[in-house]
Amino acid sequence: MANPSLLILPGDGIGPEVMEQVMRIIDWFGEKRGIAFDVTTDLVGGAAYDKHGVPLSDETMQKALEVDAVLLGAVGGPAYDNLDFSVKPERGLLRLRKEMDLFSNLRPAQCFDALADFSSLKKDIVAGLDIMIVRELTSGVYFGEPRGIHKEGNERVGVNTQRYTESEIARVARSAFELARKRSNKVCSMEKANVMESGILWRDVVTEIHEAEYSDVELSHMYADNGAMQLVRAPKQFDVIVTDNLFGDVLSDCAAMLTGSLGMLPSASLGAPAANGRPKALYEPVHGSAPDITGQGKANPSACILSFAMALRYSFDHGEEATRLEEAVQAVLASGVRTADLMQEGDKAPVSTTQMGDAVLAALDNSL
Ligand code: IPM
Ligand code: MG
Repeated sequence: MANPSLLILPGDGIGPEVMEQVMRIIDWFGEKRGIAFDVTTDLVGGAAYDKHGVPLSDETMQKALEVDAVLLGAVGGPAYDNLDFSVKPERGLLRLRKEMDLFSNLRPAQCFDALADFSSLKKDIVAGLDIMIVRELTSGVYFGEPRGIHKEGNERVGVNTQRYTESEIARVARSAFELARKRSNKVCSMEKANVMESGILWRDVVTEIHEAEYSDVELSHMYADNGAMQLVRAPKQFDVIVTDNLFGDVLSDCAAMLTGSLGMLPSASLGAPAANGRPKALYEPVHGSAPDITGQGKANPSACILSFAMALRYSFDHGEEATRLEEAVQAVLASGVRTADLMQEGDKAPVSTTQMGDAVLAALDNSL
């Protein structure tokens, strides 16, 4: 049988630097664990714009639709700030999400013991935190029509549309309930049913799916503003949070910062299972392109490495190998080896991106 295929899109900023370390990890799994991939590399974001004049070429889009999983670094940077909206680097990412129909975006917020001091919250509020935000990713206000800026009388009006169909809500709700069953069996659904009709429908559909198919899972509902407040007040009350595209964008940044270390957080965007049982999937670190430290060898590759761990788990059914990789990263952190983003007073000198990769590879060797 052919090896599973991976499309690597390093993108912009620190994307290529952190992806270089992931490539070494991928090679390690091929050599030491017999898990080999057919890897191709291509351009996205500003890097694609520089070469093709668009942030994602049709050829690359086609490749993304054909492979078993896509691994993306980061898109965007100051050089592209003044581009027309339609060719901004972010549009490349949005096109991938939309055309691959990646409706379920998994954003774990996990507080590693060794890093609990980095949170802006008190240590006991975040130590041991392990929540999963499931964000709807292909609909809602990000894509709803009508949209645009038009003239009414002598002033301009900006319009975006929040729109959700029942089936769009149902499929992301199912993915949240399925995940909860493999975790602590709790789902909290967040919307604004007090002011938005789409929120009323969201709450109805989540409740119906729950009653019909997942009554063994504990379900609660919260208005999204209260949810934001509860996330910083007592985040450990949550297991899985399911919410729409825009609330999910905001709440997941909030949840990410609870852990204090954006450089540590991976994400997975999943679609419907293909004929071979694998979902369409894109994996990417939550941190952005970090132009301020690009090219300095300072970036923390952990989030991108942990995104590959998510690929092992959710696309390739190698849950145990994913855990091996996650534990290797944790062991490195616990040993005090840290990149510059994770330095505290009294720490040894920070390691470089490559040295962090070395340390994770050594920890992987140790795990055998
Ligand atoms: C994210 C980002 C994107 C979003 C941007 C880069 C388009 O903020 O993945 O959360 O808004 O979805
Ligand atoms: Mg965001």
